[in-house]
Amino acid sequence: MKSVASASIALDVIRVQMGLAPLKALQTSVHLNTHCNLRCSYCFIATNPNYPTGYKESGLPLEKMKIVLKNLSGSTHNVIFTGGETFLYKGFADLLVYAREELSFDSLSAISNGMFLESKPEILNRLDHVAVSYDLMRRNQYPDILDNVLNSIIRLRRDGRIKEGQVYFNCTIAEHETIADWSGFLDLAANNGLRIFVQPVRDGFGNLDSWEPFNALVLEIRKRYGYQIFVNCKTYLGEYDHKLTKKVCHPKARMYVDVWGNLVYPCERFAGSNLGNLAVPDFPVARKWAEAEAREKFPSSKCEKCAYNCVFGNSIPYRRPIRTIITSVSAKFHER
Ligand SMILES: C[S@@+](CC[C@H](N)C(=O)[O-])C[C@H]1O[C@@H](n2cnc3c(N)ncnc32)[C@H](O)[C@@H]1O
Ligand code: SF4
Ligand code: SF4
Repeated sequence: MKSVASASIALDVIRVQMGLAPLKALQTSVHLNTHCNLRCSYCFIATNPNYPTGYKESGLPLEKMKIVLKNLSGSTHNVIFTGGETFLYKGFADLLVYAREELSFDSLSAISNGMFLESKPEILNRLDHVAVSYDLMRRNQYPDILDNVLNSIIRLRRDGRIKEGQVYFNCTIAEHETIADWSGFLDLAANNGLRIFVQPVRDGFGNLDSWEPFNALVLEIRKRYGYQIFVNCKTYLGEYDHKLTKKVCHPKARMYVDVWGNLVYPCERFAGSNLGNLAVPDFPVARKWAEAEAREKFPSSKCEKCAYNCVFGNSIPYRRPIRTIITSVSAKFHER
């Protein structure tokens, strides 16, 4: 069973890299909540019209969220939960137990501000990956908190309470930042075998005017620390641009579910247009997606200035076939 699952993801990864639709999404981002204990200056929840209620949403009740996951289970290899602060979603540990025991995802991950990794092991220990956000904008705003987060990750890693590769950093980079600004953090990450996912800060509509400053910094990081520090798909490192082809964006590679449980087509940049609510039993995800694709194909001219993940590493960390197989097999062996 394990090898069949790994082969099936690896084949889909290869299909995406060839510009073909995967049979299942490599990964689906499920928005658990918008509640958060921080207020990062650049956070899109405060500025993006997709979040008309700002930080007010505590998320669907657990039983409804289970239905959302059940509906997704035949249509995505992996799930990554986002927020708000995901570790504050009430019932998260129970949701993960349900997903792991009753459904057949290859992995379950979350994006988090990292403040609850040690105090909520019942969540941490049930996640295959946690992308902990660390960036200079946040560090300037909350220096003590970010120091604590960094120290706690290093402690967890040294004590063997997180596996190699289980936690990586989500680094959001602002236009004026330089390698000198980043090097203290990057040295620490590299010296502790921790990897980074890099992305540019997007404006309130999910746009980016120019990739140039971001590409230049990514190339400098690559030169100093090598490819291995990145979780991003290495094919495009430092070469991101607004020329959209299926090779860099096949929307089905990474589906998105909004905080109300709606399946969004084609991606979160179009969160206003959804295909229906997944909190209703027996929602036909694959059929609805195929119907939407037949009506309107993406990427298209509507994607102009898109700064979303698909352009620069959609479905990380599952975009590298070899790494995907290793991740998947090790996740299966790591019974919790
Ligand atoms: C909204 S947060 C939710 C998870 C968690 N609260 C955290 O901060 O990691 C998800 C990711 O989006 C990033 N993010 C927030 N605002 C952004 C923006 N305007 N552009 C790009 N990334 C942004 C955060 O840094 C974080 O890595
Ligand atoms: S921790 Fe995450 S959700 Fe909370 S304000 Fe910061 S970016 Fe937004
Ligand atoms: S807006 Fe971006 S992520 Fe969405 S379909 Fe277009 S290129 Fe892909």
